[in-house]
Amino acid sequence: MPRVTYVGPDGRRDSVDVAVGDTVMDGALDNNVPGIIGQCGGALTCVTCHCYVDAPWFDRLPPPDPDEAELLPFAEAVAADSRLSCQIRMTDALDGITVRLPPRQLPERG
Ligand code: FES
Repeated sequence: MPRVTYVGPDGRRDSVDVAVGDTVMDGALDNNVPGIIGQCGGALTCVTCHCYVDAPWFDRLPPPDPDEAELLPFAEAVAADSRLSCQIRMTDALDGITVRLPPRQLPERG
């Protein structure tokens, strides 16, 4: 099974096996990795699955589909290597992918 490493904003690293066909978000939720909420379950309505994809993995991913591209700017602290982890579907070719998690998924309440 391909492996995903999640790096938290505090440097915590969680490496877990994620089945081919499952998403990077699924891997986090199934293994209690903190930092990914996945509130909408992958329905592309929430952006609480935001992550940063390390090189060289970022360039190996298919580009975001129009719905992901439209939603992604609404995530917190978006950067050039941002993706929505519910849209990253695992393949054997992605074995070893590392994603970093943002400091928070939801805006701070004032
Ligand atoms: S889980 Fe809601 S957009 Fe990814």
